[in-house]
Amino acid sequence: MVDRAAVLAALEAVIDPISGQGLVSAGLVQGLVVAEDRAGFALEVARDRVATYAPVRDAAEAALKALPGVTRVSVVLTTEAAPQPRTASLSRAAVDQGRPKAPVATDRPAHVRRVLAVASGKGGVGKSTVAVNLAAALAARGLSVGVLDADVYGPSLPTMLGIGGQPAYEDGAIVPHLAHGLKAMSVGLLTKADDAMIWRGPMASQAITQMLTQTRWGTAEAPLDILDGAVIVSTPQEVALADARRAHTLFQRVGVPTLGLIENMSGPIFGRGGAQAEAQRLAIPFLGDLPLDAALREGGDAGRPPVAVDPAGVIADRFAVIAALVVEGLKP
Ligand SMILES: Nc1ncnc2c1ncn2[C@@H]1O[C@H](COP(=O)(O)OP(=O)(O)OP(=O)(O)O)[C@@H](O)[C@H]1O
Ligand SMILES: [Mg+2]
Repeated sequence: MVDRAAVLAALEAVIDPISGQGLVSAGLVQGLVVAEDRAGFALEVARDRVATYAPVRDAAEAALKALPGVTRVSVVLTTEAAPQPRTASLSRAAVDQGRPKAPVATDRPAHVRRVLAVASGKGGVGKSTVAVNLAAALAARGLSVGVLDADVYGPSLPTMLGIGGQPAYEDGAIVPHLAHGLKAMSVGLLTKADDAMIWRGPMASQAITQMLTQTRWGTAEAPLDILDGAVIVSTPQEVALADARRAHTLFQRVGVPTLGLIENMSGPIFGRGGAQAEAQRLAIPFLGDLPLDAALREGGDAGRPPVAVDPAGVIADRFAVIAALVVEGLKP
């Protein structure tokens, strides 16, 4: 078990170049997590000082790694959020929302016209797969699309898009990775995959908010016509559908329109048609079904989403229909 006092002492021994104080006294250590064999925190600095603090982050990480019993360390360099009017409602935010553990209170980032959530009530039903391929299908329609992986506990976007490495910062903004024509951001890029699980509670929602609002998703000023929606992914079985119903209820409660339900892994193994019937019961659109298909799994593992690498294939065709319905649903 890592000793919290030892962690604090080690961080205090790292000097803040601006104030000349130790990092703890300087108030730069936010959201410290110390557990079993791991330690991590967010080093929160002013937006114009990111470059100054990059070596401090490395020094803090090295100091923690040198502690006995510490095998996993993550120090994430984050910037203070710019003051913005707080108008948006809870959870009206993220593309590919992860498991519903961390509520996301955010303001709409500049330059983003539409924010679409890909959600499910249940893990492992194909949210990430659908999010990435739907993003590619939307990009194929000529839209500029960014994908935010809001799953801070098991981020899979880096694998699914074949990207890695810390993003660059420019003028205090995160420059997103570009893959298959999509801008992408994930906690998995800010920290090594194994360390992502240390994010908890407020730190998790803070991480999502910062990724959403501080990433340079676009360049042109766009009108902030607020019209968001959620797409819910479910497998055909009743257990998954019950969770999909709950997800829909949650979105209703926060005033986000459910644009429709997608049946994933449809076919002889899990069944077929359950989601369509459920959509009818809930009076929401049914967006289509996706078969259990090795190309979807292998493409995800290899960072090669079928919609992007095989735009003339059957999977791309399915997603083109879903994308068209989503765009239709997002129209005023
Ligand atoms: N239609 C499909 N056919 C074959 N494999 C699929 C299909 N959809 C998803 N998969 C595979 O199932 C696994 C789970 O999918 P995915 O990671 O997209 O789900 P998720 O809902 O994002 O999971 P989590 O809740 O863990 O984030 C992955 O290995 C993925 O490649
Ligand atoms: Mg996922």
